[in-house]
Amino acid sequence: MREPGGGVVSIPELRPGETVEGFFAVMIKDLRPFRDPGKGAYLHLKLRNRTGFIEARVWDRAEELAEVFEEGDPLWVTAEVNNYRGTNQLIVGDLAAVDPAEVTPEHFLPESPRPLEVMEGELWAAIEALPRGPVSRLLVEIFGNPEFYQAYTRAPAAKRVHHAYLSGLLEHSLEVLTVLTGGSPGGDRLDMEILTAGALLHDVGKIEEYEYRVDIDYSPRGRLIGHIALGYRMVDRWIAAFPDFPGDRATHLGHLLLSHHGEHAYGAPVLPQTAEAVALHHADILSGKVGQALAIGDGIEPGAWSDYDRLLGRYMWSPPRPGDAEPEG
Ligand SMILES: [Fe+2]
Ligand SMILES: [Fe+2]
Repeated sequence: MREPGGGVVSIPELRPGETVEGFFAVMIKDLRPFRDPGKGAYLHLKLRNRTGFIEARVWDRAEELAEVFEEGDPLWVTAEVNNYRGTNQLIVGDLAAVDPAEVTPEHFLPESPRPLEVMEGELWAAIEALPRGPVSRLLVEIFGNPEFYQAYTRAPAAKRVHHAYLSGLLEHSLEVLTVLTGGSPGGDRLDMEILTAGALLHDVGKIEEYEYRVDIDYSPRGRLIGHIALGYRMVDRWIAAFPDFPGDRATHLGHLLLSHHGEHAYGAPVLPQTAEAVALHHADILSGKVGQALAIGDGIEPGAWSDYDRLLGRYMWSPPRPGDAEPEG
């Protein structure tokens, strides 16, 4: 089905022997000589779609087909599934370049496990729960901008590690907000108006920090400036368009953005210096760390151990689900 949103084969469900066709993006393209030089070369590929990654081989017409595409390009691939040493791979019969206008990031990148409509509902409910005033007016203005709204609700929160999928930024921001509104220490002594804005906007610079088409990567501006400075600049500009926005609240919101990484070593230009900033920083850590653990757990069977995770400096265990428990006896 070569139609919008169609053409995505479920990689985990492939069965050896079946023939499949669909959109795949090329992560690795390597033209390698056969051992017998008279036979020319074959293509060694790593492909992805939104359901995962798979290796592929092109045995026939490899040199001719290699001319058609580069790494990072989307392709329409027809292939047979082959099991090689216990792992499925695709033996490509044919492939064709695809007009980039024909595909969207949704073909190639995984999405948040939470339904987008549910998260959008939570976002607007949080904004509407605020007392009418400059902060709520600012948020309505920001999130009411269609172009910004589209970018904010689709952006990933990371390249890898946590919430590294479409709508990950929205999911992560709502998690941070939920931690703060759902019984944070400090309770109603915290300024929930400015904290709501801080939770929703603390990582807003990630909209510019990442590029995502067939893969998630840093944009040049993201690498050179980073999401803290990018986000502060965005929020500062929005506030400047509200001449009557109270100066102390503008400063506090700016402080929440600039201090949310908590320590200079983690990129914060200033340390959290209000109770709200301390709360936001820890809520951000909680969402990020749990997201990181869940992402590792997603890759392993219940009851199994992960590979050694260098970022965490440990192995992670996936506990058996309650239904998998050993029978009593
Ligand atoms: Fe951040
Ligand atoms: Fe964050």
